[in-house]
Amino acid sequence: MIRGGGLVAFPTETVYGLGANAFDAGAVRRIFEAKGRPPDNPLIVHVSSLEEAKALVIEWPSLADRLAAKFWPGPLTLVMKRRDLPEEVTAGLPTVAVRFPAHPVALTLIRLSGTPIAAPSANLSGRPSPTTAEHVVQDLWGRIDYILDGGSTPFGVESTILDITRRPCVLLRPGPIAPEDLERVVGQLALSKAALGEEAEVAEAPGMKYRHYSPKARLILVRGETGRAAEVAESEIAKGLRVGILTCDEHTHMYKAGVVISLGKLSNPYSIAHNLFTSLRKFDELGVDVIVAEEFPQRGILFAVNNRLRKAASEII
Ligand code: TXA
Ligand code: MG
Repeated sequence: MIRGGGLVAFPTETVYGLGANAFDAGAVRRIFEAKGRPPDNPLIVHVSSLEEAKALVIEWPSLADRLAAKFWPGPLTLVMKRRDLPEEVTAGLPTVAVRFPAHPVALTLIRLSGTPIAAPSANLSGRPSPTTAEHVVQDLWGRIDYILDGGSTPFGVESTILDITRRPCVLLRPGPIAPEDLERVVGQLALSKAALGEEAEVAEAPGMKYRHYSPKARLILVRGETGRAAEVAESEIAKGLRVGILTCDEHTHMYKAGVVISLGKLSNPYSIAHNLFTSLRKFDELGVDVIVAEEFPQRGILFAVNNRLRKAASEII
């Protein structure tokens, strides 16, 4: 299907991707059509070997060797200076985002296709990323050629994106590989505004400037102590609204009413990330008017969870 110019959704260790042959401009254009994705938002190119990664760039810095040795295959995407690729893939940028995923289904698909695969997350543009094949069906049924069902994706948030063309290296999007872990290899990092969940500058990871990961309901992200989120939830309930509450096992006892979904134990931050997007979709199915979400401590993979919540939020208080 990939060799013939088709679109295939496939699992990775982060989220499901919607793949096409990275060297087939027509196939890549169909990805943008299927997702309703703005054409100025470039795609990540997925490879199944270091050789394939090196062939995509004009310069392979020694830093890339050190990062690849430590984190590849895995949920880290590196932005480097590109060789020739269809303009559709890179949205005309002089760089390309390269990722060597660890998921066996993704690796097998890339290997059998015999080509690097360009793939964004397999959701409709603006919706939460898909972490199950069912989510892909919800968003893209009838718009794509094939879905490989590999069950639910382990990490549940998209890869960490690091721009290594600049010094210091710039974290464009936080993900499963924490900033602390990267700094052990690359030294001090710069954090882009988008990574912090602030209004992004246009020249940064272009996709990060869009509102994102959004459930249909209005999401209010509450910073600071947990008690505050419970107060906000109560005042929304008092307005007669159907209120969803997004929290963790340790805090559920603080909520007396509303539709409470726990993402898992705060002491197991990977479960919080794993359940995030499924839970946002769940609130849509339940038809809540507003979602009150707690911000989590800003460390490890929770840094990425907070970033996605900020992008999804209509209001941060
Ligand atoms: O985990 C992931 O990264 C998943 C799986 C499928 O691999 N993919 C994913 O793709 O999240 P997508 O398209 O949803 O997000 C890719 C992000 C966008 O924000 C895009 O703007 C940015 O990567 N990006 C792509 N190429 C870039 C480049 N050359 N420079 C800066 N940012 C880039
Ligand atoms: Mg996406």
